[in-house]
Amino acid sequence: MGILAVLALPLLLFGISGIIYIYQTVRWLLSKSAVQNKVVVITDATSGLGKECSRVFHAGGARLVLCGRTWEKLETLYDALINVADPSMTYAPKLIFLDISDINCIRDVAKEILNCYGCVDILINNASMKVKGAVQSISLELDKKIMDANYFGPITLTKAILPNMISRRTGQIVLINSIQGKIGIPFRAAYAASKHAAVGFFDCLRAEMEEFDISVSTVNPTFICSYHRQPAPGNWEASIWKSLAPLCSIHSLFQKGCVWPAPRGGGGGSLAHSKQ
Ligand SMILES: NC(=O)c1ccc[n+]([C@@H]2O[C@H](COP(=O)([O-])OP(=O)(O)OC[C@H]3O[C@@H](n4cnc5c(N)ncnc54)[C@H](OP(=O)(O)O)[C@@H]3O)[C@@H](O)[C@H]2O)c1
Repeated sequence: MGILAVLALPLLLFGISGIIYIYQTVRWLLSKSAVQNKVVVITDATSGLGKECSRVFHAGGARLVLCGRTWEKLETLYDALINVADPSMTYAPKLIFLDISDINCIRDVAKEILNCYGCVDILINNASMKVKGAVQSISLELDKKIMDANYFGPITLTKAILPNMISRRTGQIVLINSIQGKIGIPFRAAYAASKHAAVGFFDCLRAEMEEFDISVSTVNPTFICSYHRQPAPGNWEASIWKSLAPLCSIHSLFQKGCVWPAPRGGGGGSLAHSKQ
């Protein structure tokens, strides 16, 4: 009895410290960001959606390469990001000039992107051009420009980054598309056509990349209430996702760190990974 009483206390302490250790380890594992140290490229990082993606990935400890066609906006975004995040837990983003409709320059831009960290883990094709108007009022020239920005631009960049991912047998390619890549509505013919084309390309790419363990995802949101519609002066980082949440689940995917697993079978591109 006496020996048992003597042993009980150390055993109890040992048990409690074991439970505390397991609890802390589980908490650490849960808090660890799945995008930590990942090289993430976002095209048009200065758009409403691009900006929010930048914020989420930056806070998660990703090594960001932010692309945009207005240098001042990129610099403003850079300042905002590094001012709100803990510098010991985050990386200073790299900035790259990219006009997604300038097809002839995209290969060089891809080289610049790859030179930043030597690889790309996640490519988010977010840049896009919008146009609205009756079919007969939109010139063929503008139709082609929209096709360049929304189809040839993203596929040229993706093709240039792809060999790096294939050689590493890892990577995630995301196309931020639109519900208009699935259905057509009046006065959006050029935009919808370009988005339909992009869905077709990335659906095929998904099926081809499966053997290399590269996932390809297409996000087809409906309406996104971005900063342009709901400005929050002096509080740019306030999440747009509060208003977006019912429409699109990208944010929760980022938060959970699942970052879009590729659907099996390559079918049904749209909402393979998000709500419409
Ligand atoms: N907003 C929505 O309701 C909605 C709905 C469905 C899908 N989406 C998709 O979500 C993505 C982001 O859209 P968003 O609404 O967040 O954008 P946004 O806030 O409306 O901003 C438009 C952006 O397009 C950029 N841009 C225009 N032409 C460009 C070019 N040639 N090269 C690079 N950037 C260019 C502009 O850059 P500058 O400011 O530097 O000119 C600007 O940042 C797009 O792919 C869009 O199709 C949006």
